[in-house]
Amino acid sequence: MSIKGKVALVTGGSGGLGRVHSLSLAKAGCDVAVTGHSHLEKAEAVVKEIEALGRKAIAVKVDLANLDEVQAGVQKVAASLGPVDILVNNAAFGIVRAVTIVKMDKADWDRDLSVNLTGAFNTIKCCMPGMAERGWGRIINISSIAGTMGGMGQGSYAATKAGLIGLTKTAALEGARKGITCNAIVLGVFAGGSFNEVAPEFQERIIKRMALRRAGDPQELSNVVVFLASEESSYITGEAIEVSGGASLFTF
Ligand SMILES: NC(=O)c1ccc[n+]([C@@H]2O[C@H](COP(=O)([O-])OP(=O)(O)OC[C@H]3O[C@@H](n4cnc5c(N)ncnc54)[C@H](O)[C@@H]3O)[C@@H](O)[C@H]2O)c1
Repeated sequence: MSIKGKVALVTGGSGGLGRVHSLSLAKAGCDVAVTGHSHLEKAEAVVKEIEALGRKAIAVKVDLANLDEVQAGVQKVAASLGPVDILVNNAAFGIVRAVTIVKMDKADWDRDLSVNLTGAFNTIKCCMPGMAERGWGRIINISSIAGTMGGMGQGSYAATKAGLIGLTKTAALEGARKGITCNAIVLGVFAGGSFNEVAPEFQERIIKRMALRRAGDPQELSNVVVFLASEESSYITGEAIEVSGGASLFTF
């Protein structure tokens, strides 16, 4: 993939799947900024792994819900690695919480929206002007089949993942004549990360729902992230690409 020398920002880049995206982008030749949320130890460990691959990296502490922190984080990345060419909106909150809409705390609803959806708005708002100035940019928003199919007990999470698809299509339109593409990836379930927090009996039930009858390997997802981040994906924009092992097929 033609991606060498680009600067990537991966939100939640030290999480279960985010770490694999960060390393895959580095292996493809990018320098990578890894955002962490509450503490930076995990992000710093990923930075060391990236440096061992011969690329530059930094860990940046950002609460995505806070626009000022996002703005400061993006400026820090630019000062250290260069301006952001590739933005991967991967971080999310409330992923495995299961509470019906009636029982959900309003505070949980607000927090999920402020991180998962407003967080992506904040990063796009801060990264897009620089991409437009340079005439090249790639934005990849990590959505979920919860956003396209609904999720029992996942009202806030599903709403944010559906919202990301609308945000993706709008950013694609607004970036189209400036050399910027924006796509969403609609995930099924992947081993590692938040899926590990689901009780084993539920994991089994979910996997039986997939046409391929298995959880995805995070690398199978990162391959798509790297492709969408590359020059080779230049004619794809505004898409919501499902990578789910056939979760939406009629399986029995
Ligand atoms: N693992 C799966 O099977 C699966 C399925 C569908 C979608 N997804 C999506 O993939 C992405 C990664 O999920 P994961 O499984 O690796 O989860 P994870 O919990 O391991 O990672 C989530 C990351 O988001 C970060 N984060 C949370 N709140 C934040 C905030 N306020 N500011 C900054 N960062 C914050 C966390 O620090 C963490 O690094 C998420 O968008 C999730 O919705 C995962």
